[in-house]
Amino acid sequence: MPFDSLHENLRTAHGFVPLELEGTVPEDLRGTLYRAGPGMFERFGVAVAHPFEADGAITAVRFGDERPLGAARIIESEGYLEEQSAGRRLYGTGAGRLRNIVAALRQRTKNTANTSAWVHDGQVYALMEGARPTRLHPDTLDVLGEERFDGTLRGVFSAHPHRVAALGTTFNFGVRYGREHALDLYALPDHGPTRHLGVVPLPWAGMVHDFIATERHLVFVVGPVRLLIWRALLGDPNFERLFAWEPERGTEIIVVPLAEPERVIRIPAEPFWVWHFANAFERGDEIVVDLCRYADFGTLREIRTGRGGQPAAATEPRYHRARLDVRTRRMTSEERSPCAAEFPRVHPEREGVEHRLAFLHGGKADGSEVVTLLEVETGRTSSWQPDTPTALSEPIPVARGNRPDDERDAWVLVLGYEQARDRSFVAVLDGDDLSQGPVARAWFDHPIPITFHGAFAPAS
Ligand SMILES: [Fe+2]
Repeated sequence: MPFDSLHENLRTAHGFVPLELEGTVPEDLRGTLYRAGPGMFERFGVAVAHPFEADGAITAVRFGDERPLGAARIIESEGYLEEQSAGRRLYGTGAGRLRNIVAALRQRTKNTANTSAWVHDGQVYALMEGARPTRLHPDTLDVLGEERFDGTLRGVFSAHPHRVAALGTTFNFGVRYGREHALDLYALPDHGPTRHLGVVPLPWAGMVHDFIATERHLVFVVGPVRLLIWRALLGDPNFERLFAWEPERGTEIIVVPLAEPERVIRIPAEPFWVWHFANAFERGDEIVVDLCRYADFGTLREIRTGRGGQPAAATEPRYHRARLDVRTRRMTSEERSPCAAEFPRVHPEREGVEHRLAFLHGGKADGSEVVTLLEVETGRTSSWQPDTPTALSEPIPVARGNRPDDERDAWVLVLGYEQARDRSFVAVLDGDDLSQGPVARAWFDHPIPITFHGAFAPAS
Protein backbone atom coordinates (compact mmCIF):
# COMPACT_ATOMS: atom_id res chain seq x y z
CA MET A 1 0.00 0.00 0.00
CA PRO A 2 1.43 3.44 -0.87
CA PHE A 3 2.24 5.67 2.09
CA ASP A 4 1.76 2.91 4.69
CA SER A 5 2.19 5.22 7.66
CA LEU A 6 -0.98 7.07 6.71
CA HIS A 7 -2.97 3.92 7.37
CA GLU A 8 -1.48 3.11 10.74
CA ASN A 9 -2.38 4.29 14.24
CA LEU A 10 -1.33 7.77 15.26
CA ARG A 11 2.11 6.96 16.73
CA THR A 12 2.54 9.94 19.01
CA ALA A 13 -0.26 11.87 20.65
CA HIS A 14 0.69 15.26 22.06
CA GLY A 15 -0.54 18.75 22.89
CA PHE A 16 0.86 21.85 21.18
CA VAL A 17 4.64 21.66 20.76
CA PRO A 18 6.96 23.73 18.53
CA LEU A 19 7.32 22.32 15.02
CA GLU A 20 10.44 22.43 12.88
CA LEU A 21 10.04 25.39 10.54
CA GLU A 22 11.33 25.52 6.99
CA GLY A 23 10.89 28.90 5.25
CA THR A 24 9.01 31.85 6.72
CA VAL A 25 5.44 32.00 7.97
CA PRO A 26 3.67 35.04 6.45
CA GLU A 27 2.97 37.79 8.96
CA ASP A 28 -0.70 37.94 8.01
CA LEU A 29 -1.29 34.22 8.65
CA ARG A 30 -2.36 33.93 12.26
CA GLY A 31 -4.67 31.25 13.57
CA THR A 32 -5.11 27.49 13.86
CA LEU A 33 -5.69 24.83 11.24
CA TYR A 34 -7.67 21.85 12.56
CA ARG A 35 -7.97 18.61 10.57
CA ALA A 36 -9.77 15.35 11.30
CA GLY A 37 -9.35 11.80 10.08
CA PRO A 38 -9.15 8.20 11.25
CA GLY A 39 -6.57 7.79 14.01
CA MET A 40 -6.81 4.16 15.16
CA PHE A 41 -6.66 1.60 12.36
CA GLU A 42 -6.09 -1.21 14.85
CA ARG A 43 -7.09 -1.54 18.48
CA PHE A 44 -6.76 -4.42 20.96
CA GLY A 45 -5.17 -6.40 18.14
CA VAL A 46 -8.17 -5.99 15.82
CA ALA A 47 -7.89 -4.08 12.55
CA VAL A 48 -10.89 -2.03 11.44
CA ALA A 49 -12.71 -3.28 8.34
CA HIS A 50 -12.71 0.22 6.81
CA PRO A 51 -11.10 3.56 7.81
CA PHE A 52 -14.61 5.06 8.19
CA GLU A 53 -14.96 2.84 11.28
CA ALA A 54 -11.74 4.00 12.97
CA ASP A 55 -11.64 6.18 16.09
CA GLY A 56 -10.86 9.70 14.96
CA ALA A 57 -7.77 11.83 15.45
CA ILE A 58 -7.60 15.60 15.46
CA THR A 59 -4.52 17.43 14.25
CA ALA A 60 -3.90 21.14 14.79
CA VAL A 61 -1.21 23.56 13.62
CA ARG A 62 -1.14 27.04 15.14
CA PHE A 63 0.50 30.00 13.40
CA GLY A 64 1.41 32.84 15.75
CA ASP A 65 4.32 35.21 16.28
CA GLU A 66 6.70 32.43 17.33
CA ARG A 67 7.45 29.10 15.66
CA PRO A 68 4.34 27.19 14.53
CA LEU A 69 2.95 24.78 17.11
CA GLY A 70 1.47 21.38 16.35
CA ALA A 71 -0.79 19.01 18.26
CA ALA A 72 -2.29 15.60 17.47
CA ARG A 73 -4.70 13.65 19.65
CA ILE A 74 -6.99 10.65 19.41
CA ILE A 75 -10.58 11.77 19.97
CA GLU A 76 -11.48 10.21 23.28
CA SER A 77 -15.21 9.82 22.71
CA GLU A 78 -17.55 8.16 25.19
CA GLY A 79 -17.40 4.96 23.13
CA TYR A 80 -13.62 5.08 22.92
CA LEU A 81 -13.31 5.44 26.70
CA GLU A 82 -15.87 2.68 27.26
CA GLU A 83 -13.71 0.34 25.15
CA GLN A 84 -10.59 1.53 26.95
CA SER A 85 -12.11 0.53 30.31
CA ALA A 86 -13.30 -2.82 28.96
CA GLY A 87 -9.92 -3.54 27.37
CA ARG A 88 -11.58 -4.73 24.16
CA ARG A 89 -13.65 -3.63 21.20
CA LEU A 90 -17.31 -3.03 22.02
CA TYR A 91 -18.34 -1.51 18.67
CA GLY A 92 -17.84 -2.65 15.09
CA THR A 93 -15.22 -5.09 13.88
CA GLY A 94 -14.07 -7.41 16.67
CA ALA A 95 -16.99 -6.63 19.00
CA GLY A 96 -18.85 -9.81 18.08
CA ARG A 97 -21.94 -10.29 15.96
CA LEU A 98 -24.46 -10.45 18.80
CA ARG A 99 -23.17 -7.27 20.41
CA ASN A 100 -23.29 -5.50 17.03
CA ILE A 101 -26.88 -6.63 16.40
CA VAL A 102 -28.01 -5.43 19.84
CA ALA A 103 -26.15 -2.12 19.40
CA ALA A 104 -27.74 -1.62 15.96
CA LEU A 105 -31.25 -2.35 17.29
CA ARG A 106 -30.72 0.10 20.14
CA GLN A 107 -29.22 2.58 17.67
CA ARG A 108 -26.09 2.76 19.81
CA THR A 109 -23.07 3.57 17.76
CA LYS A 110 -19.69 5.05 18.52
CA ASN A 111 -19.20 8.69 17.64
CA THR A 112 -15.74 8.45 16.09
CA ALA A 113 -15.72 12.10 14.92
CA ASN A 114 -13.25 11.00 12.24
CA THR A 115 -14.29 13.00 9.16
CA SER A 116 -13.99 16.76 9.46
CA ALA A 117 -13.13 19.66 11.72
CA TRP A 118 -15.49 22.62 11.93
CA VAL A 119 -15.19 26.02 13.57
CA HIS A 120 -18.47 27.75 14.43
CA ASP A 121 -19.42 30.56 16.81
CA GLY A 122 -16.11 30.35 18.66
CA GLN A 123 -16.24 26.58 19.11
CA VAL A 124 -14.17 23.82 17.53
CA TYR A 125 -15.85 20.56 16.56
CA ALA A 126 -14.92 17.22 15.05
CA LEU A 127 -17.67 15.72 12.91
CA MET A 128 -18.78 12.43 11.43
CA GLU A 129 -21.98 11.99 9.46
CA GLY A 130 -23.57 9.34 11.68
CA ALA A 131 -23.51 11.24 14.98
CA ARG A 132 -23.74 14.60 16.71
CA PRO A 133 -20.89 17.12 16.60
CA THR A 134 -18.09 16.47 19.10
CA ARG A 135 -17.03 19.72 20.78
CA LEU A 136 -13.30 20.00 21.46
CA HIS A 137 -11.24 22.30 23.63
CA PRO A 138 -9.47 24.57 21.08
CA ASP A 139 -6.14 24.45 22.98
CA THR A 140 -5.97 21.00 24.62
CA LEU A 141 -8.12 19.21 21.97
CA ASP A 142 -9.86 17.43 24.88
CA VAL A 143 -13.38 16.19 24.15
CA LEU A 144 -15.86 18.54 25.86
CA GLY A 145 -18.99 16.60 24.88
CA GLU A 146 -21.56 16.15 22.15
CA GLU A 147 -23.38 19.24 20.84
CA ARG A 148 -27.17 19.38 20.68
CA PHE A 149 -27.63 23.11 19.95
CA ASP A 150 -30.03 23.61 22.85
CA GLY A 151 -32.12 20.63 21.82
CA THR A 152 -32.58 21.76 18.20
CA LEU A 153 -30.60 18.83 16.79
CA ARG A 154 -33.07 16.01 16.05
CA GLY A 155 -30.58 13.37 15.04
CA VAL A 156 -27.22 13.18 13.36
CA PHE A 157 -25.35 16.12 11.81
CA SER A 158 -23.37 15.63 8.60
CA ALA A 159 -19.63 16.24 8.39
CA HIS A 160 -20.14 18.90 5.68
CA PRO A 161 -21.69 22.10 6.98
CA HIS A 162 -21.55 24.94 4.41
CA ARG A 163 -21.48 28.63 5.22
CA VAL A 164 -22.97 31.21 2.87
CA ALA A 165 -20.82 34.25 3.53
CA ALA A 166 -23.43 36.80 2.35
CA LEU A 167 -26.04 35.38 4.75
CA GLY A 168 -23.65 34.99 7.68
CA THR A 169 -25.22 31.59 8.11
CA THR A 170 -24.02 28.00 7.93
CA PHE A 171 -26.36 25.27 6.72
CA ASN A 172 -26.21 21.54 7.35
CA PHE A 173 -28.29 18.38 7.34
CA GLY A 174 -28.60 15.00 8.98
CA VAL A 175 -29.78 11.80 7.29
CA ARG A 176 -32.53 9.86 9.05
CA TYR A 177 -33.20 6.25 8.05
CA GLY A 178 -36.34 4.51 9.23
CA ARG A 179 -39.84 3.78 8.02
CA GLU A 180 -39.31 6.88 5.89
CA HIS A 181 -35.87 8.10 4.93
CA ALA A 182 -35.38 11.84 5.21
CA LEU A 183 -33.03 14.76 5.62
CA ASP A 184 -33.28 17.12 8.60
CA LEU A 185 -32.18 20.60 7.56
CA TYR A 186 -30.52 23.16 9.83
CA ALA A 187 -29.56 26.84 9.67
CA LEU A 188 -26.84 28.03 12.02
CA PRO A 189 -26.33 31.82 12.08
CA ASP A 190 -22.77 32.94 12.87
CA HIS A 191 -24.07 33.98 16.28
CA GLY A 192 -27.40 33.02 17.78
CA PRO A 193 -29.63 30.01 18.02
CA THR A 194 -29.66 27.13 15.55
CA ARG A 195 -32.91 26.58 13.63
CA HIS A 196 -34.43 23.36 12.26
CA LEU A 197 -35.53 24.34 8.74
CA GLY A 198 -37.57 21.31 7.82
CA VAL A 199 -37.63 17.68 6.79
CA VAL A 200 -37.15 16.50 3.20
CA PRO A 201 -38.07 12.92 2.28
CA LEU A 202 -35.38 10.94 0.45
CA PRO A 203 -36.37 8.85 -2.59
CA TRP A 204 -34.52 5.82 -1.18
CA ALA A 205 -32.20 5.02 1.75
CA GLY A 206 -29.46 6.97 0.00
CA MET A 207 -26.03 7.82 1.24
CA VAL A 208 -25.81 11.61 1.31
CA HIS A 209 -22.31 12.73 2.26
CA ASP A 210 -22.26 16.41 1.28
CA PHE A 211 -24.52 19.10 -0.20
CA ILE A 212 -24.13 22.73 -1.22
CA ALA A 213 -25.80 26.07 -0.48
CA THR A 214 -26.41 29.35 -2.34
CA GLU A 215 -28.01 32.54 -1.07
CA ARG A 216 -31.44 31.12 -2.00
CA HIS A 217 -31.25 27.34 -2.18
CA LEU A 218 -29.81 24.18 -0.69
CA VAL A 219 -28.90 21.50 -3.26
CA PHE A 220 -28.62 17.77 -2.56
CA VAL A 221 -27.49 15.16 -5.06
CA VAL A 222 -28.84 11.74 -4.13
CA GLY A 223 -26.80 9.25 -6.14
CA PRO A 224 -27.94 5.65 -6.72
CA VAL A 225 -26.24 4.28 -3.61
CA ARG A 226 -28.55 2.57 -1.14
CA LEU A 227 -28.00 1.61 2.48
CA LEU A 228 -28.92 -2.06 2.94
CA ILE A 229 -31.00 -1.55 6.07
CA TRP A 230 -31.17 -5.26 6.96
CA ARG A 231 -27.38 -5.50 6.93
CA ALA A 232 -27.14 -2.40 9.10
CA LEU A 233 -29.65 -3.97 11.50
CA LEU A 234 -27.48 -7.08 11.63
CA GLY A 235 -24.70 -4.78 12.79
CA ASP A 236 -22.37 -5.47 9.88
CA PRO A 237 -19.43 -3.12 10.54
CA ASN A 238 -18.03 -3.33 7.00
CA PHE A 239 -19.07 -0.17 5.12
CA GLU A 240 -18.42 -1.80 1.77
CA ARG A 241 -21.12 -4.41 2.46
CA LEU A 242 -23.60 -1.84 3.81
CA PHE A 243 -24.06 0.14 0.61
CA ALA A 244 -25.13 -1.02 -2.84
CA TRP A 245 -24.56 0.78 -6.16
CA GLU A 246 -27.88 0.61 -8.05
CA PRO A 247 -27.42 2.70 -11.21
CA GLU A 248 -30.85 1.80 -12.56
CA ARG A 249 -32.30 4.26 -10.01
CA GLY A 250 -30.55 7.21 -11.65
CA THR A 251 -29.68 10.26 -9.56
CA GLU A 252 -32.19 12.57 -7.91
CA ILE A 253 -31.27 16.19 -7.35
CA ILE A 254 -33.23 17.90 -4.59
CA VAL A 255 -33.39 21.69 -4.54
CA VAL A 256 -34.71 23.28 -1.35
CA PRO A 257 -35.75 26.98 -1.54
CA LEU A 258 -34.60 28.65 1.67
CA ALA A 259 -37.69 30.90 1.64
CA GLU A 260 -40.06 27.90 1.43
CA PRO A 261 -38.17 24.75 2.45
CA GLU A 262 -41.28 22.60 2.11
CA ARG A 263 -41.57 23.36 -1.65
CA VAL A 264 -38.74 21.16 -2.82
CA ILE A 265 -37.94 20.73 -6.50
CA ARG A 266 -36.81 17.28 -7.63
CA ILE A 267 -34.73 16.93 -10.78
CA PRO A 268 -34.00 13.51 -12.30
CA ALA A 269 -30.55 12.87 -13.74
CA GLU A 270 -28.40 10.04 -15.06
CA PRO A 271 -26.57 7.83 -12.51
CA PHE A 272 -23.38 9.33 -11.08
CA TRP A 273 -21.73 9.68 -7.71
CA VAL A 274 -20.44 12.71 -5.84
CA TRP A 275 -18.64 12.87 -2.52
CA HIS A 276 -17.87 16.59 -2.49
CA PHE A 277 -19.05 19.93 -3.81
CA ALA A 278 -16.87 22.98 -4.48
CA ASN A 279 -19.52 25.69 -4.42
CA ALA A 280 -22.84 26.79 -5.90
CA PHE A 281 -24.41 30.09 -6.88
CA GLU A 282 -27.48 31.63 -8.50
CA ARG A 283 -27.41 32.84 -12.11
CA GLY A 284 -30.83 34.02 -13.31
CA ASP A 285 -33.18 31.05 -13.28
CA GLU A 286 -30.26 28.66 -13.03
CA ILE A 287 -28.37 27.29 -10.09
CA VAL A 288 -24.74 26.59 -10.96
CA VAL A 289 -23.21 23.75 -8.95
CA ASP A 290 -19.54 22.77 -9.08
CA LEU A 291 -18.69 19.28 -7.87
CA CYS A 292 -16.27 16.37 -8.28
CA ARG A 293 -18.13 13.75 -10.23
CA TYR A 294 -17.56 9.98 -10.44
CA ALA A 295 -19.02 7.49 -12.91
CA ASP A 296 -19.67 5.02 -10.06
CA PHE A 297 -19.11 4.24 -6.37
CA GLY A 298 -15.77 2.39 -6.58
CA THR A 299 -14.01 4.90 -4.32
CA LEU A 300 -15.53 3.43 -1.15
CA ARG A 301 -13.18 0.48 -1.65
CA GLU A 302 -10.25 2.67 -2.64
CA ILE A 303 -10.47 4.66 0.58
CA ARG A 304 -9.84 1.36 2.39
CA THR A 305 -7.13 0.10 0.08
CA GLY A 306 -5.01 3.18 0.46
CA ARG A 307 -5.90 5.54 -2.33
CA GLY A 308 -7.97 7.56 0.16
CA GLY A 309 -9.36 10.39 -1.87
CA GLN A 310 -6.87 9.58 -4.57
CA PRO A 311 -8.26 8.44 -7.84
CA ALA A 312 -7.63 5.14 -9.54
CA ALA A 313 -8.26 4.61 -13.21
CA ALA A 314 -11.69 3.01 -12.86
CA THR A 315 -13.35 5.78 -10.91
CA GLU A 316 -11.42 9.00 -11.37
CA PRO A 317 -13.32 12.05 -10.18
CA ARG A 318 -13.57 15.02 -12.53
CA TYR A 319 -14.37 18.64 -11.76
CA HIS A 320 -17.77 19.37 -13.26
CA ARG A 321 -19.94 22.43 -13.57
CA ALA A 322 -23.62 21.44 -13.43
CA ARG A 323 -26.47 23.78 -14.28
CA LEU A 324 -29.88 23.25 -12.75
CA ASP A 325 -32.88 24.83 -14.41
CA VAL A 326 -35.49 24.76 -11.68
CA ARG A 327 -38.34 25.72 -14.04
CA THR A 328 -37.83 22.94 -16.58
CA ARG A 329 -36.36 20.56 -13.96
CA ARG A 330 -33.34 19.75 -16.06
CA MET A 331 -29.69 19.35 -15.26
CA THR A 332 -26.78 19.69 -17.64
CA SER A 333 -23.21 18.98 -16.59
CA GLU A 334 -19.83 19.74 -18.17
CA GLU A 335 -16.36 18.54 -17.29
CA ARG A 336 -14.09 21.51 -16.65
CA SER A 337 -10.72 19.79 -16.31
CA PRO A 338 -9.38 16.48 -17.64
CA CYS A 339 -7.34 16.01 -14.45
CA ALA A 340 -8.43 13.86 -11.54
CA ALA A 341 -9.55 16.14 -8.73
CA GLU A 342 -11.13 15.85 -5.31
CA PHE A 343 -11.56 17.75 -2.03
CA PRO A 344 -12.49 21.00 -3.78
CA ARG A 345 -12.50 24.30 -1.91
CA VAL A 346 -13.12 27.90 -2.92
CA HIS A 347 -12.02 31.18 -1.37
CA PRO A 348 -14.06 31.48 1.86
CA GLU A 349 -15.61 34.80 0.80
CA ARG A 350 -16.96 33.23 -2.42
CA GLU A 351 -18.91 30.48 -0.68
CA GLY A 352 -22.50 30.74 -1.97
CA VAL A 353 -21.70 33.33 -4.68
CA GLU A 354 -20.00 33.06 -8.07
CA HIS A 355 -16.41 31.85 -7.96
CA ARG A 356 -13.87 31.65 -10.76
CA LEU A 357 -11.22 29.53 -9.04
CA ALA A 358 -11.21 26.21 -7.22
CA PHE A 359 -8.44 24.68 -5.10
CA LEU A 360 -8.17 20.91 -5.55
CA HIS A 361 -6.28 17.83 -4.44
CA GLY A 362 -5.36 15.67 -7.39
CA GLY A 363 -3.55 12.51 -8.28
CA LYS A 364 -1.64 11.53 -11.39
CA ALA A 365 -1.53 8.18 -13.12
CA ASP A 366 2.02 7.54 -11.79
CA GLY A 367 0.73 7.83 -8.20
CA SER A 368 2.15 11.31 -7.52
CA GLU A 369 -0.07 13.87 -5.86
CA VAL A 370 -0.63 17.56 -6.55
CA VAL A 371 -2.58 20.52 -5.24
CA THR A 372 -4.06 22.54 -8.05
CA LEU A 373 -5.68 25.89 -8.67
CA LEU A 374 -8.25 25.51 -11.46
CA GLU A 375 -9.64 28.45 -13.44
CA VAL A 376 -13.12 27.04 -13.88
CA GLU A 377 -14.07 28.94 -17.06
CA THR A 378 -10.85 28.32 -19.00
CA GLY A 379 -9.77 24.99 -17.52
CA ARG A 380 -6.27 26.43 -16.95
CA THR A 381 -4.44 25.07 -13.95
CA SER A 382 -1.37 25.72 -11.84
CA SER A 383 -0.13 23.09 -9.42
CA TRP A 384 2.38 22.26 -6.74
CA GLN A 385 3.86 18.80 -7.06
CA PRO A 386 6.57 17.98 -4.49
CA ASP A 387 9.88 16.64 -5.82
CA THR A 388 9.86 13.46 -3.73
CA PRO A 389 7.04 10.95 -3.07
CA THR A 390 4.62 12.90 -0.92
CA ALA A 391 0.97 12.42 0.00
CA LEU A 392 -1.10 15.61 0.01
CA SER A 393 -4.63 16.42 1.13
CA GLU A 394 -7.51 18.88 0.85
CA PRO A 395 -6.13 22.41 0.31
CA ILE A 396 -7.67 25.00 2.63
CA PRO A 397 -7.67 28.59 1.39
CA VAL A 398 -7.38 31.24 4.12
CA ALA A 399 -8.50 34.76 3.17
CA ARG A 400 -5.77 37.41 3.39
CA GLY A 401 -8.11 40.39 3.03
CA ASN A 402 -5.72 42.56 0.95
CA ARG A 403 -7.44 42.50 -2.43
CA PRO A 404 -11.24 42.28 -2.27
CA ASP A 405 -12.73 40.19 -5.09
CA ASP A 406 -9.40 38.54 -5.86
CA GLU A 407 -9.76 34.85 -5.18
CA ARG A 408 -5.99 34.36 -5.34
CA ASP A 409 -5.62 36.58 -2.30
CA ALA A 410 -5.30 33.61 0.02
CA TRP A 411 -2.80 31.43 1.81
CA VAL A 412 -3.44 27.79 1.05
CA LEU A 413 -2.76 25.26 3.81
CA VAL A 414 -2.06 21.64 2.93
CA LEU A 415 -1.24 18.78 5.29
CA GLY A 416 1.24 16.48 3.60
CA TYR A 417 3.40 13.45 4.32
CA GLU A 418 6.89 12.95 2.88
CA GLN A 419 7.64 9.28 2.50
CA ALA A 420 11.45 9.49 2.65
CA ARG A 421 11.39 11.33 5.98
CA ASP A 422 8.34 9.43 7.30
CA ARG A 423 7.07 12.74 8.68
CA SER A 424 4.06 14.97 8.10
CA PHE A 425 4.02 18.72 7.57
CA VAL A 426 1.68 21.60 6.93
CA ALA A 427 2.66 23.59 3.85
CA VAL A 428 1.74 27.25 3.35
CA LEU A 429 1.28 28.04 -0.35
CA ASP A 430 0.66 31.41 -1.96
CA GLY A 431 -2.68 31.52 -3.80
CA ASP A 432 -1.05 33.87 -6.33
CA ASP A 433 1.11 31.02 -7.61
CA LEU A 434 0.89 27.49 -6.22
CA SER A 435 3.59 26.27 -8.61
CA GLN A 436 6.26 28.17 -6.66
CA GLY A 437 5.86 25.62 -3.86
CA PRO A 438 5.46 26.37 -0.17
CA VAL A 439 6.65 29.62 1.39
CA ALA A 440 6.82 27.69 4.65
CA ARG A 441 6.52 24.16 5.93
CA ALA A 442 5.96 23.24 9.59
CA TRP A 443 7.15 19.69 10.23
CA PHE A 444 5.85 17.22 12.81
CA ASP A 445 8.49 14.73 13.93
CA HIS A 446 6.11 11.85 13.11
CA PRO A 447 3.51 10.88 10.49
CA ILE A 448 -0.13 11.98 10.82
CA PRO A 449 -2.56 9.31 9.54
CA ILE A 450 -4.85 10.32 6.64
CA THR A 451 -7.17 13.25 7.25
CA PHE A 452 -10.25 14.05 5.19
CA HIS A 453 -11.30 17.63 5.99
CA GLY A 454 -10.26 20.63 8.02
CA ALA A 455 -11.06 24.18 8.99
CA PHE A 456 -9.08 27.29 9.87
CA ALA A 457 -9.83 29.38 12.94
CA PRO A 458 -8.30 32.87 12.53
CA ALA A 459 -6.61 34.22 15.67
CA SER A 460 -9.04 36.48 17.49
FE1 LIG B 1 -16.19 14.40 2.97
